[in-house]
Amino acid sequence: MATSSPRSMPRFSQFVALFLLFGFAITSRAGDPPLTLDYYKSSCPSVLEIVRKEMECAVLSNPRNAALIIRLHFHDCFVQGCDGSVLLDDTITLQGEKKAPTNINSLGGFRIIDRIKTMLESECPGVVSCADILTVAARDATLLVGGPYWDVPLGRKDSRTASYELAAANLPTADESLPSIISKFLYQGLSVTDTVALAGAHTVGMARCANFRARIYGDFEATSGKSPASEANLGHLRSICPSIGGGDNNIAPMDRVTPDLFDNSVYQLLQQGEGLLSSDQEMYSSILALQTRGIVKKYAADQIAFFEQFSESMVRMGNITNPESSVNGEVRKNCRFINTWAPEI
Ligand code: HEM
Repeated sequence: MATSSPRSMPRFSQFVALFLLFGFAITSRAGDPPLTLDYYKSSCPSVLEIVRKEMECAVLSNPRNAALIIRLHFHDCFVQGCDGSVLLDDTITLQGEKKAPTNINSLGGFRIIDRIKTMLESECPGVVSCADILTVAARDATLLVGGPYWDVPLGRKDSRTASYELAAANLPTADESLPSIISKFLYQGLSVTDTVALAGAHTVGMARCANFRARIYGDFEATSGKSPASEANLGHLRSICPSIGGGDNNIAPMDRVTPDLFDNSVYQLLQQGEGLLSSDQEMYSSILALQTRGIVKKYAADQIAFFEQFSESMVRMGNITNPESSVNGEVRKNCRFINTWAPEI
């Protein structure tokens, strides 16, 4: 059954965000989680090695898997905190998040997490939470496609609940305005800088036509300035994604330059006005992009600055806790079900 939670976003924060866009600071809500780097040191010393090995196989077999896992972690953390809620399947008594509008036909990587969990349950049964597995897997995914490394604080507990409603309310969408997107990040205790840096994850992975149709038949030509190269790119995108007559699930890379490499070229595309998602392009082109435009320019010019900030922001996002799960959470035996429901694996 879906639960309501204090993490539903109040509407007034969308207005507050307009002011914050211009550079006011906000204190973090994502502070003080009881997480430590050596949490599994004695209870499961091989945890990092096991996750890394499984992620290596997954990314080697298909680099897209890295993108799927990074996004899964984001969609976990923005709904009740990083508590593995996104991994739960629907049951008679629990409505999961997988069928929420931003997730349905869109999220993937669940089987990779299942495989890691199975390995860990045979190595150290009942010890490593699914939320921690996903957090470490997202770090490894980033590293394996060329991105930065960071140490992952550990000790999250898995939720016994999920929230379809919060998934629908808290997760940003491609057609959302910049102030509204920023307000969703601020609400999670993440800054404007975090928002721009974390959106840099779009340097890998694919988007579905349904999420970029309005952009390529809308303001793409205006932002990209109709250069021959951008016109050719636009023609190609339109051939993948017809204006009418279906094709909603046809996909295109968000970073057409280096789709399988974690680098800063997605920001360079935004500077050229060729961002695939409207939400990304707004960070550079919107009249409200006073603060974000400068950050995009900085990361487009300086990959090291992007990598440093991305690492820091991923730790901050990963530290969004679910106070309820911290106290009443569990270590699921099977990431798809709470323990009272879990079939033997
Ligand atoms: C800033 C607000 C964001 C918006 C509006 C947004 C929106 C989207 C959309 C619409 C897609 C394509 C999904 C589809 O077509 O099925 C996507 C894909 C993706 N997003 Fe985001 N996203 C945002 C932030 C983030 C963050 C913070 C991360 C991770 C740190 C992230 C990681 C990804 C990845 C890796 C993909 C590719 C997934 C794949 O290949 O299937 N996004 N995002």
